[in-house]
Amino acid sequence: MEYIQEYNRYRNLIEEWIGNRITVPGLPERNLFEAMRYSLMAGGKRLRPVLSLAVCDMLGGDMEDVLPFACAIELIHTYSLIHDDLPCMDNDDFRRGKPTNHKVFGEAKAVLAGDALLNTACEIMLDEVLADRDEPHIKAAAARIIMEAAGASGMVAGQVIDLESEDVPVSYEVLCRMHSLKTGALIRAGILSAARLCKADEKTWDALDRYGRHIGLAFQIKDDLLDLEGDAAVTGKSTGSDEKKHKSTFVTILGAKKAKELLEETVREAVRALENLKNAGFLARTAAYIAEREK
Ligand code: IPE
Ligand code: IPE
Ligand code: MG
Ligand code: MG
Ligand code: MG
Repeated sequence: MEYIQEYNRYRNLIEEWIGNRITVPGLPERNLFEAMRYSLMAGGKRLRPVLSLAVCDMLGGDMEDVLPFACAIELIHTYSLIHDDLPCMDNDDFRRGKPTNHKVFGEAKAVLAGDALLNTACEIMLDEVLADRDEPHIKAAAARIIMEAAGASGMVAGQVIDLESEDVPVSYEVLCRMHSLKTGALIRAGILSAARLCKADEKTWDALDRYGRHIGLAFQIKDDLLDLEGDAAVTGKSTGSDEKKHKSTFVTILGAKKAKELLEETVREAVRALENLKNAGFLARTAAYIAEREK
């Protein structure tokens, strides 16, 4: 199967699962659910959950076990985007090819839709833990990986470094830390939560961990490059946003040329991490896709 077909096969499973799980009830607060669905179903790439499903296939795991966790990560990721776009953060007007959540529903509702997505993600994972009569601790461990990556040791911490690095020069080390946390952490969690659910052995876990760290970093370097060189009609979000806000990124600090070199090197390292794993073709191809992507 062609890479893109395989990617879309995973993506369709995710679209369907999320579409069925997050619906709009006939309640007075229905516009909360409308706001959640608005951003959720706007056509994200679904990279994090796709990685989870790919790891599951690679390890011969059960897709039914992994899919809810994969989708929970996508809910968390979507909440992080809604909040990232708020006027108090990046103040952006477009996301996933549409006006940002707060532009449509107002700031307060956008904050609350984000909050609700985070909680719903936890509920989804806890439902899985509670429904597992054999080994609920494995599902609990997967949930733990995801929640840690999303919070004060992961994405949220990275966002804090990002905000505090506006208008101030930061070191290369801080730049790497910021990227690894704000973006890398959830991407790696997509991979490692699936590895946990599929009972990966230690060697496989370590290789996937290394792979996850590298593609996480690569993904954000590419995001920074797309902010400079991308086409907003294709990326679906405003370009030039980092420059305008004096963000510290690989591009604004190192320049585009160095950022591209680093991207290539990081992708090579990611592929190298997979060397001793069987059936890792899709993951290797995904590392390349991250560098090639135009959105
Ligand atoms: C955008 O993530 C924000 C970053 C962490 C760089 P994606 O590029 O995965 O956005 P969607 O989910 O496809 O919209
Ligand atoms: C990280 O970076 C986003 C999150 C952790 C949500 P950016 O602020 O660069 O993401 P975009 O470019 O707005 O998607
Ligand atoms: Mg941001
Ligand atoms: Mg942003
Ligand atoms: Mg960006």
